[in-house]
Amino acid sequence: MKLRTLVIGLAAATFSLSAMAQQPIVIKFSHVVATETPKGKAAEYFKKLAEERTQGKVKVEVYANSTLYKDKEEMEALQLGAVQMLAPSLAKFGPLGVKQFEVFDLPYLFDNYKELHNVTQGPVGKSLLRMLETKGILGLAYWDNGFKVMSANKALKIPDDFKGLKMRIQSSNVLDAQMRALGSLPQKMAFSEVYQALQTGVVDGTENPPSNLYTQKMHEVQKYVTLSDHGYLGYAVIVNKKFWDGLPADIRTTLEAAMADSTKYANEIAKKENDDALAAVKASGKSEIYTPTADEKKAWKKALVKVHDQMADRIGKDLIQSIYKETGFDPGKL
Ligand code: LMR
Repeated sequence: MKLRTLVIGLAAATFSLSAMAQQPIVIKFSHVVATETPKGKAAEYFKKLAEERTQGKVKVEVYANSTLYKDKEEMEALQLGAVQMLAPSLAKFGPLGVKQFEVFDLPYLFDNYKELHNVTQGPVGKSLLRMLETKGILGLAYWDNGFKVMSANKALKIPDDFKGLKMRIQSSNVLDAQMRALGSLPQKMAFSEVYQALQTGVVDGTENPPSNLYTQKMHEVQKYVTLSDHGYLGYAVIVNKKFWDGLPADIRTTLEAAMADSTKYANEIAKKENDDALAAVKASGKSEIYTPTADEKKAWKKALVKVHDQMADRIGKDLIQSIYKETGFDPGKL
């Protein structure tokens, strides 16, 4: 009798062990934007590559549009291991204690994607990602979104037009200084709350690349959009370090290659996604699109470049200088 019980018990244990062995490794990938954006599409692309190339040993569950966590909560969830992967904008690392990432928010620091890639794909970008490790986070890649526009219910042609406007920003202190330099009143707010805040007048305006403006329908509650290109918005793809280090080596290598290919894809589609979104905003007829004249652009740059100096102590003078070197930026020439 005892032997029979033992045999049955052993069989059950073997069965459940093999069932466990077949359980996929789940990567919960949470983000706050719509699926039809550069980040949303790249997250789906990573899911596809990761699942195909590991033959189902890894399952990636993508939660878009803040359906799982909002901005602040998702960072905490990653550190706690409740999600495994995120791609927050580079403007959202200050509250985590890695404020150096706010360097990417400095107005007019990058003129185009090429200058930006000199930084993100070079030694400066890598050393920034390494700073995350003390927080239990590994930085895997940088994904582009694009250059920001400003929006409000009044035309924003010159810095004076911003006086007294309440402008929603992400959690970055550099963006706070940027909006103050324009004479407006910045308000930090989670991305998921922006549409309603604009609709109800809690804030008057905001900034984002066209892909975010359009997919969140912000253009339906903002009468004017200015193509200011005054700053860049991009992402760091990050994972819980303990989780990533604990993966079987062959799986991790496969996922790293899938991430490299997804990064290529993300950065290839970003510009077109934003161009298409801007065309869709234009076609909707809901917002008037304004392109500043050369003189107006000069006035924007004059008002905003001082933010570089103002924020140097927070971000680090050496870091700012090393980025100037990569991009050829010369504040004296603005
Ligand atoms: C925002 O919060 O405005 C954006 O950065 C959201 C995002 O992830 O693109």
